[in-house]
Amino acid sequence: MTREVYCGELRKKDAGREVTLYGWVQRRRDHGKLIFFDLRDRTGIVQVVYNFEQDEAVFRLAEEVRNEYVLAVTGTVVPRSEDMVNPRLDTGEIEVQALGLVILNRAKTPPFYIEDGVEVEENIRLKYRYLDLRRPEMQKNLFLRHRVTKLVRDFLDREGFLEIETPMLTRSTPEGARDYLVPSRVNPGKFYALPQSPQLFKQLLMVSGLERYFQIARCFRDEDLRADRQPEFTQIDIEMSFTGTDALLGLMENMFAHIFKEALGETLTTPFPRLTWREAMDRYGSDKPDTRFGLEIRDVTAAVKDAGFKVFRSVLAAGGTVRGINAAGCGYFSRRELDEMTAIVSQYGAKGLAYFFVEEDGLRSSISKFFLDTELAGIKEKLEGKPGDLLLLVADREETALSSLGALRLHLGGRLGLIDSSLRHFLWVVDFPLLSFDTVEGRYVANHHPFTSPKDEDLDMLEVRPGEVLAKAYDLVLNGVEIGGGSQRIFRRDVQERMLALLGFTPETAREQFGFLLDAFEYGTPPHGGIAFGLDRIVMLMAGRSSIRDVIAFPKTASATCLMSGAPSAVTEKQLAELQIRSKRSTNA
Ligand code: AMO
Ligand code: AMP
Repeated sequence: MTREVYCGELRKKDAGREVTLYGWVQRRRDHGKLIFFDLRDRTGIVQVVYNFEQDEAVFRLAEEVRNEYVLAVTGTVVPRSEDMVNPRLDTGEIEVQALGLVILNRAKTPPFYIEDGVEVEENIRLKYRYLDLRRPEMQKNLFLRHRVTKLVRDFLDREGFLEIETPMLTRSTPEGARDYLVPSRVNPGKFYALPQSPQLFKQLLMVSGLERYFQIARCFRDEDLRADRQPEFTQIDIEMSFTGTDALLGLMENMFAHIFKEALGETLTTPFPRLTWREAMDRYGSDKPDTRFGLEIRDVTAAVKDAGFKVFRSVLAAGGTVRGINAAGCGYFSRRELDEMTAIVSQYGAKGLAYFFVEEDGLRSSISKFFLDTELAGIKEKLEGKPGDLLLLVADREETALSSLGALRLHLGGRLGLIDSSLRHFLWVVDFPLLSFDTVEGRYVANHHPFTSPKDEDLDMLEVRPGEVLAKAYDLVLNGVEIGGGSQRIFRRDVQERMLALLGFTPETAREQFGFLLDAFEYGTPPHGGIAFGLDRIVMLMAGRSSIRDVIAFPKTASATCLMSGAPSAVTEKQLAELQIRSKRSTNA
């Protein structure tokens, strides 16, 4: 079997050509003395015709063929007559008049049609993933993923980066999710952790003087899953020495320009805009703002600070804030819609949503009576309300007010059709706070990870006003999805120790977890920094999908199971005994 041509490649210019095609039967149509197959391989589909008059024996064999049979077809490429041309197929101007047929394999009737746009429950697709991946749209996603990975490798290779693998069986890394643990048979009672990222190793490679590292790295995080989160996922992981933030971000912009140009033919505008974290929160209520539409959040505190409305009063007295959005032109919204929006903000902890309809003669609301006319005018002015608009306000702690309005903004953007899906809005979010206070644990935690450097000018505040210290950290956001994050690292041991102390590590616990890194830092560490991008998310956005499962060959469900292989599964008592582990649950294996 040698393969000279693929189904999807045949065109009018091939007319007259004798071909042997291999593939699967997508559809068959039996017209009595003519049988048509849509023959599919990974390049596409071509129509094959068996004619009773041509060869009766072959025709009888063709009659046995069903969907998804694997065939070898020999025949001649012929042009279709004008009225038979199928414009929906790339090969629609020709068909193959078949002369020979070998049924290479038969197939059971698949649980769903193998074609684009199937409406079948995702669980069925995941259980029969090998069939799901036969569908052209899924194959297209995997082709794109391959292409993107290759373009990344080529680009980084040209820029002098070395691809270096780091261990999968390792120690806990500090990205903040739960670890997947692997018991060690030869060291009973001890466990490896699967890496949440290659973070520590890539920094050690900088200590080793490799200067420019990258890896297409598998990462493992035991966290709550959603459409853009999988328990194992892939990072484009990068680290470099002797370059600051600007040089790194510039290089990464060039990398994205290269990928989008070569894979999609799209020209990106560089440099990407930058927004400080503060501004992103204030204007969009999110650290990964979707800037493809407006509906920005405004601070209306000043306009209502003396208002008689009790709710606002008590929030402001407690140090809170009042923020609002102008839902322009939404003055026609119904009670139901207002309730729906109230439900959205309350999911984010807001205790209510105040609303004012802008009318010719002022603001109409059930709570207008608690405000002076000047105050109402102030709200209207701050939110630039025009007749027909709907003004939406949340009074709460700053974080709650912003995040709930941020979520409401996204809802409205979708609801009002304001999001142009053809746009690519890349955006760097910079100047993140280094730390945030974890009220449950009663201590500061690193927003990025404990090796992220504070800004030089903020170093003196580290112990005095930790909450105000900014980090040399950056995230890359595309259309409201966080596709990457990184930082310049702490490279001086004294600063690293101060940081760890602030995070509640004692010298002993720090030594226990990151001793090898702290030791390494004593042998001449270059200034270094890096970033990691979520490959799955990037390919998802490039493919125009809304779930990363669609661009991962064998993904897991929201409950971290593989419906096809049945992982995770019970193991035998013998396996557990070898590991000196006893399960509290019966294993049933
Ligand atoms: P971070 O934790 O921000 O940084 O991860 C980098 C990027 O990886 C992607 N990502 C995920 N994708 C799918 N499923 C997940 N569960 C998941 N978690 C993260 C996101 C994210 O932006 N070591 C640092 C990087 C550095 O400092 O250089 C790190 O891992 O797109
Ligand atoms: P109440 O006095 O609780 O009936 O609230 C009157 C209006 O104010 C309702 O529309 C509530 O949704 C709204 N509201 C209540 N609490 C808040 C808040 N924290 N921020 C904004 N609006 C609120």
